[in-house]
Amino acid sequence: MRIGFFDSGHGGLEILKEAIERHGADYFFIADESFHPYGKMELSEMQERCRQLTELLVVEKKCDVIVLACNTATAYAIDVLRQQFDVPFVGVEPYLSYINTIPNEIVSAGKVGALVTPNTLKAPRFKELKQKRDPRDLVSVLALGELAPLIEEFMRDRDSIKFEKNLEQLFEPLLPIDWEETILGCTHYPLISSYLERLLKTRCVSPTGAVVEQLIRVSSSEKSKLDKGLFNYLNTIDGHWREALISEFLPLP
Ligand code: DGL
Repeated sequence: MRIGFFDSGHGGLEILKEAIERHGADYFFIADESFHPYGKMELSEMQERCRQLTELLVVEKKCDVIVLACNTATAYAIDVLRQQFDVPFVGVEPYLSYINTIPNEIVSAGKVGALVTPNTLKAPRFKELKQKRDPRDLVSVLALGELAPLIEEFMRDRDSIKFEKNLEQLFEPLLPIDWEETILGCTHYPLISSYLERLLKTRCVSPTGAVVEQLIRVSSSEKSKLDKGLFNYLNTIDGHWREALISEFLPLP
């Protein structure tokens, strides 16, 4: 079983990590850093890019299942990709149904928020999801175009002091944010959830477990040919596949 993942960069690595731990398969991860960020990309360009990356994973790498490890790509491309390719797709969406699992007083008091990219906020698929999962419109949604690029930069330079300063500057005009629970609607954000929890005094929620459950449902398991934690990695900036260890990327300092 070969499972392909892609994202505009290194979002989705939390999902990949849990998938590697729980589900034997050969994993292929494309970090499409040369087209980062998708959160502000022109939509038809993003759809075409998602088609190209899926083609690479399905035709060249013979992947049996594709994980769109990106909320933004899922919002705009998953329906089209399902028509274009004859493999199962697993997408990622902001985990709004989480509000059904916490006390109603917290939700009704407006103490739950969601962070997404600007393109996700605009997507008809997200609007439908919001209407369906949060019909009383109690969850506040904030779109941040600059946060995923900051996280990509942090993954490259690993400078936590600089990152924390940039994060504070980004959020300063938006404060105070009084959310007890914050739904992370972009796969980059769980990579820095401890920073967000400190800054916003909140608890971060991501759909990682649910996505991996879905991946396991759609793909049959077999013993991995690779060692635990090892996966095939392509960064579109340098364009060469290599084997990488998940510990090279996670955790961030
Ligand atoms: N990681 C992506 C998501 O989940 C998008 C980040 C970006 O490229 O803007 O939406």
